[in-house]
Amino acid sequence: MRIGIIGAGYVGLVSGAGFAMRNHEVKCADLSREKVESINSKKSPIYEEGLEDALSRLVPSALSATTSVAEAVLESDAVFICVGTPSKKNGAPDLSALKKCAKEIGNALAQKKDYCAVVVKSTVLPNVTEGVVLPILESASAKKAGKDFGLCMNPEFLKEGVALKDFLGPDRIVIGCIDSRTERAMREIYSGFNAPILAMKPCDAEMTKIASNCFLATKISFMNELANLSKKLGVDIEAVAKGMGSDKRIAPYFLKPGPGFGGSCFPKDLRALKSIAKKQGEKMAVISATLEANDSQPMRLVELAASKIDLKNAKVGVLGLAFKPDTDDVRESPAIPVISALLSMAKEVNAFDPKAERNMRRIFPQANYFPSAQEAIRNSDIVLIVTDWPEFSGLDYGSKIVVDARNVFGNAKRPQNYDCLVK
Ligand SMILES: NC(=O)c1ccc[n+]([C@@H]2O[C@H](COP(=O)([O-])OP(=O)(O)OC[C@H]3O[C@@H](n4cnc5c(N)ncnc54)[C@H](O)[C@@H]3O)[C@@H](O)[C@H]2O)c1
Repeated sequence: MRIGIIGAGYVGLVSGAGFAMRNHEVKCADLSREKVESINSKKSPIYEEGLEDALSRLVPSALSATTSVAEAVLESDAVFICVGTPSKKNGAPDLSALKKCAKEIGNALAQKKDYCAVVVKSTVLPNVTEGVVLPILESASAKKAGKDFGLCMNPEFLKEGVALKDFLGPDRIVIGCIDSRTERAMREIYSGFNAPILAMKPCDAEMTKIASNCFLATKISFMNELANLSKKLGVDIEAVAKGMGSDKRIAPYFLKPGPGFGGSCFPKDLRALKSIAKKQGEKMAVISATLEANDSQPMRLVELAASKIDLKNAKVGVLGLAFKPDTDDVRESPAIPVISALLSMAKEVNAFDPKAERNMRRIFPQANYFPSAQEAIRNSDIVLIVTDWPEFSGLDYGSKIVVDARNVFGNAKRPQNYDCLVK
């Protein structure tokens, strides 16, 4: 089928490449001319394993990009909305990009003769697809949803770092279609994927995505609190995680303690759920506690560092800026509160990340950035390991003080002057 992708970011570009690899013809539209030019010249604007390789094979025959939403809609049988839905200051989701995008799609639908399915892939709260997107599409196109065009909510569950692999081999595909014709189109789009398709109402699909993220984030905060306590009691949290995770009801995933969760999804999706719950008079005590525990975790790393050295006279190395390894994404990374605190408390901040330096420089241009981890270590009195990039366990730390937020060394030999936040 011919597939349009609106918003060629982490989700949109990976989905576009994935659909093209499953023999669909893909046109990505993005506001950013820079991203569009980069895609059309086979260069990925983001770092994601395998993506640039895929683009080099797919562009231009199976995938191309444009700055025109109308072009993507007019040339497609289904259009996926993949624009961002970030938090507003009050925690509610900012739907301005989604609304603008829906209006542009609606305007293009007005000129389109053939049937087209509009698919919301952006993460949204329950009832946004039918309560916000549908009326905008109908009013801009002067057409009727379920008759002249289709509408579906199809949440995305990929993880950055292994996004293309996750997209191509999902555990399940969730679709919430407003009518049977849209559902047939969605089943055809995903016919080349080896995963169960779970069909439900659009609001159920919306809640499935938000609930999954909230549940995983809660698992992380639970383990972080348990790790903080275990360290004081002399309990090995990794042995505990192994013991817990061997229980099929618990599963071994998301039990690794660290400096707190970040990224563009977990924090904002928890805040979004809280915001809608508040309007309904529901407290969501678990979600509030998950966020509260997460907010205080990065500062524990700074406090541990301050207990080892007089920070105001110390040059502090920060290894790892991305919110997790194998990505260049720094959105809501725990490294942000850590660096922010260190910039006011320490003599110098010496940062390094294999992929995320460019993005972190935009937030903290005043920090020092080093081209290698080894040079950042050499120029620092104390080193904080914030992201668990595998290379960090194989460096020469000499006698430098090392404070590790992730236990990157596991059972391997640790530096001589070492402490771990969570072990
Ligand atoms: N990043 C993830 O791991 C992930 C995983 C699952 C779901 N999601 C959800 O997917 C959505 C997108 O997330 P992302 O991380 O890909 O965001 P992103 O910021 O990387 O990408 C969004 C893109 O949309 C473009 N855009 C915005 N308005 C546009 C418009 N009107 N027309 C054309 N392009 C427009 C932006 O330029 C940007 O390139 C969010 O709702 C997010 O919660 C993200």
